[in-house]
Amino acid sequence: MEQPSPSGEPAISLHDFTDIDHAVEPTYVAALEAFDRLPLLRELKALAVERTATGPGRRVLDVGCGFGLETLRLAPLVAPGGTVTGVDLSAEFLDEGRRRATAAGLDVVFEQGDAQRLPVGDDTADVTRAERVLIYLDHPDRALAEMVRATRPGGRIAIIEPDFDTNTVNVPDVALARAVLAHEADTAVVNARLVRDLTARLAGLGLVDVEIASRMVVFDIELAAQYFGGLGAAAARDGVVDAAAGERWRAIVEDRHRRGDLFGAVGYYLFTATVPG
Ligand SMILES: C[S@@+](CC[C@H](N)C(=O)[O-])C[C@H]1O[C@@H](n2cnc3c(N)ncnc32)[C@H](O)[C@@H]1O
Repeated sequence: MEQPSPSGEPAISLHDFTDIDHAVEPTYVAALEAFDRLPLLRELKALAVERTATGPGRRVLDVGCGFGLETLRLAPLVAPGGTVTGVDLSAEFLDEGRRRATAAGLDVVFEQGDAQRLPVGDDTADVTRAERVLIYLDHPDRALAEMVRATRPGGRIAIIEPDFDTNTVNVPDVALARAVLAHEADTAVVNARLVRDLTARLAGLGLVDVEIASRMVVFDIELAAQYFGGLGAAAARDGVVDAAAGERWRAIVEDRHRRGDLFGAVGYYLFTATVPG
């Protein structure tokens, strides 16, 4: 996070959400807000709402809710009669979520807990969702089983996660780009390619009606500079490319950012499924 990016802003590192003690630092909050703003990711969030029939009277559980960017948006949708509960490991994120809910006059319950051992009863949710959480977990299967346990028979589950091996940036040196982006996919999170097995994992838990949607989520240019700008130096630090190549990467991203033609994107998937019964 401390690494300055080509845009002059602190670089965004996706490693940080496993290190939740630092979660509520302004750069982390800004990073989550920057991703949350991306229109193509918003499309997947809206599709999750639609495919889970999130509406009046529903009890919604948002696992790994952060400080509630989407959680808060769901609250008006379930009124009247519904409830929205956000669970996250970070007490500081939850405090920030409560502060934002109060400021917006929204009724949302925030509970501290581990996605792998949810602090909620069996069959207590009609809809359980998790967005950009499973990729950070040591035991994503436990979290999936917990999401199923928490959801009533006939209830719906929605999961939104990226595939880090789809990271794309218009650095013209293809060999350098492959090396740097492969390093990012190999080191950024615990489960960078989890989406590839998710259909099988969901089916293995007995879920039915598994549907997939995807978007290649294009970054705005500032986020592209902040995220991609630091990846060359990280690859050089780990000896995947040499120092000169890491510096060349930084210069290319900086130059493209300055000229306004930096392009960055990553593939995101939405999985929805029904708990049988
Ligand atoms: C990238 S953020 C996504 C937050 C939110 N879902 C969003 O889309 O804005 C990942 C979140 O997972 C949380 N997290 C990490 N490990 C967790 C765990 N074991 N149990 C619950 N939450 C966890 C982090 O604290 C962080 O809020």
